[in-house]
Amino acid sequence: MKFAFTPVPALAALVFAGSLTFARALHAQFPGMPQPKLYPWSDRSLSPDQRADLVIKEMTLDEKISLLHGRGAHFFSPPGLTGGVDGTDAIPRLGIPAIQMADSSYGVTKGAAMGRYSTALPSNLGAASSWDPEMIFEYGSLIGRELRDQGYNMSLGGGVNLTREPRDGRTFEYQGEDPLLAGTLAGNFVRGIQSQHLIGDLKHFAVNDQESGRNSLNVNISKRAMRETDLRAFEIALRISDAGAVMCAYNRVNSDFACENSYLLTDVLKGDFRFRGFILADWGGTHSTVKASHAGLDMEQPHNIFFGTALRKAAESGEVSQDEINEHVHRVLRSLFATGTFDDPTRGQVPDVEGGYRIAQEIAEKSIVLLKNKNDVLPLSTDTSSVVLIGGHADVAVPSGGGSGQVDPPGGSPVPPPPPHDFFSAGIRPAWMPSSPLHAIMAKMPSAKISYVSGDDLTAAAAAAKSADVAIVFAYQWESEAVDLPTLDLSPDQNKLIEAVAAANPKTIVVLETGGPATMPWIDKVAGVVEAWYPGIRGSEALANILTGAVNPTGKLAVTFPRSDADLPHPNLVLPPPGSLPDFNHLVADNSNIFSVLFQTLPAFQINYDEGLKVGYKWYDAEQKPVLFPFGFGLSYTSYEYSGLKVQGGDTMTASFTVKNTGARIGIEIAQVYVSFPEVAGEPPKRLVGWARVKLAAGASKLVSIAIERDRLTIFDESADTWKMVPGRYNLLVGGSSRDLPLSAAVNLQ
Ligand code: BGC
Repeated sequence: MKFAFTPVPALAALVFAGSLTFARALHAQFPGMPQPKLYPWSDRSLSPDQRADLVIKEMTLDEKISLLHGRGAHFFSPPGLTGGVDGTDAIPRLGIPAIQMADSSYGVTKGAAMGRYSTALPSNLGAASSWDPEMIFEYGSLIGRELRDQGYNMSLGGGVNLTREPRDGRTFEYQGEDPLLAGTLAGNFVRGIQSQHLIGDLKHFAVNDQESGRNSLNVNISKRAMRETDLRAFEIALRISDAGAVMCAYNRVNSDFACENSYLLTDVLKGDFRFRGFILADWGGTHSTVKASHAGLDMEQPHNIFFGTALRKAAESGEVSQDEINEHVHRVLRSLFATGTFDDPTRGQVPDVEGGYRIAQEIAEKSIVLLKNKNDVLPLSTDTSSVVLIGGHADVAVPSGGGSGQVDPPGGSPVPPPPPHDFFSAGIRPAWMPSSPLHAIMAKMPSAKISYVSGDDLTAAAAAAKSADVAIVFAYQWESEAVDLPTLDLSPDQNKLIEAVAAANPKTIVVLETGGPATMPWIDKVAGVVEAWYPGIRGSEALANILTGAVNPTGKLAVTFPRSDADLPHPNLVLPPPGSLPDFNHLVADNSNIFSVLFQTLPAFQINYDEGLKVGYKWYDAEQKPVLFPFGFGLSYTSYEYSGLKVQGGDTMTASFTVKNTGARIGIEIAQVYVSFPEVAGEPPKRLVGWARVKLAAGASKLVSIAIERDRLTIFDESADTWKMVPGRYNLLVGGSSRDLPLSAAVNLQ
């Protein structure tokens, strides 16, 4: 029996019949069923902490330990589990439900094997281009609802690692390069998840900014750089969401593994950030028992190698005190109570597919960024009689991000994956979402001739482009967890295709479907560029609306697009030394035990984040490097003018200015405020301190006020181990992107 479809009335009858013990046991196995309110800790008038303490008083040591580790379900899903990635066992005697976790970065994962549908939303970085916290709350709420529908009560989404290395294979899963923007959006994502009474998590704590060698690399970074960049994003996200969980990362930070790093886990996260939930290790990221427990790790996943019998023994011998065990358990229980997960058990039900489609499309429309629009080639004019789409499988599908976040395409991937060539490529292969740009554009332009050519033959592609009014080339860059991109360049074949098409038709538009930034050696030769990211299950419909002008683009980049790899802080990706990683193919070939080596402690290799505070635009600004497209950039089919900046002081500074829509159609402008610090602060040239999405009818103006809280203006003082404000002259800069800031005002702060 699958609990997702368990008939609720049957349980109600059982409870009614008085079979409470049985009901409790049944409930523990099938957490979707209503829970009898029998326990002292069922009293909702008590605080989550009081409720957790009441449970702990009743628990045996074995029961406590059972809440602190996984069940190994990642690889061998035991019968009765929901097909997620793991969690903890129920404690039927005490009414504590099993924690059922599923990856859910841009939708609920691993559904296909169980015949389940879930909505693939635009990638996280795509959605971050909306700069819209309320919409991201909707994004999280939708995922929360679909998790519940499938019987999960904990999300593993909430990726908020900063894009310090844009070739990171998970760039699509994160929220860009600025801590305020990324933290605000990730916080609202988790707030959305938890609004559905589930435990949300933020990950991967911390500085897990590349995938290459992630299980062995040691990040060397100063405290100040960490606190003001990656950790700042977590801090902001936590403040907004009160997340029930944080996942610590695979990598080492300043010598200690993140999951046994007492500075990160205890001093910063549980101390300074006052995090009250539990810390769970990334899958296989636990490397010790006593050290990890002392450092603040609360839960090992997905195994029980260090936090099962080994932790029990350490507790019995006194190496780990009872108080420490209770503290770990308290945090897990507290999150179950604080998020409403205990009080509102999941009920398996059929997801609202249409509702999911609607929201996915709205989000995609706000995510797409118009990067170039020479001579107003877009929107496609109504007298366009023929359009040819070229390449990128635009006849059938849009790409999606891979790895543990991969949402299964309903009905399977319309583009078959390439044959696997090794152990890794067998598990991690591109999947495409069944959303056809060709059909969506045909539906929007019924009287035009819309055709498709694959682009495999350059001569045929150029000929097709020549004979059409407009040529749209679809170019993609597939990204996945566990593998970084060797370069930000598109494949040479795609670059050649774009050049050939652009030479044949002056009205060539490139639609990019990438996880993050891409380089564009052909930029001066094409008329238009649209960044669609991985746009999700309704991506094509959203794109067709943007291309035809039914929707005016509003998205702005949450990452810089550099001109080339050479301009990055680390022009060459820092890779583990050859031979330092296990050879999985060899293991498969000789039938050795993969799992014993998969999670072994590997020798460290070093990565020095000497660029420190200079992440993303802060790097290019400080190094005075020109960029292809700056952070915060995005065009619209209308235009805006900024005027009249006034700054009011006080505890919270307020910047007021006027934005005018100077074009002919309604639009939404994302107005941004940056600050440059007095020189003694030692900061990069500017920092984003606020923004507003301003909706304006054609010709209309609005007075916009943006409050800048004090802590957006502080710096981390390493010697005093605290945040401080540097007195002096600050410059506020206002405009439509990090490199288009027409307004400025100086203020003296004490
Ligand atoms: C990833 C996590 C994910 C976990 C469970 C790990 O490899 O880094 O983000 O939540 O697997 O699938």
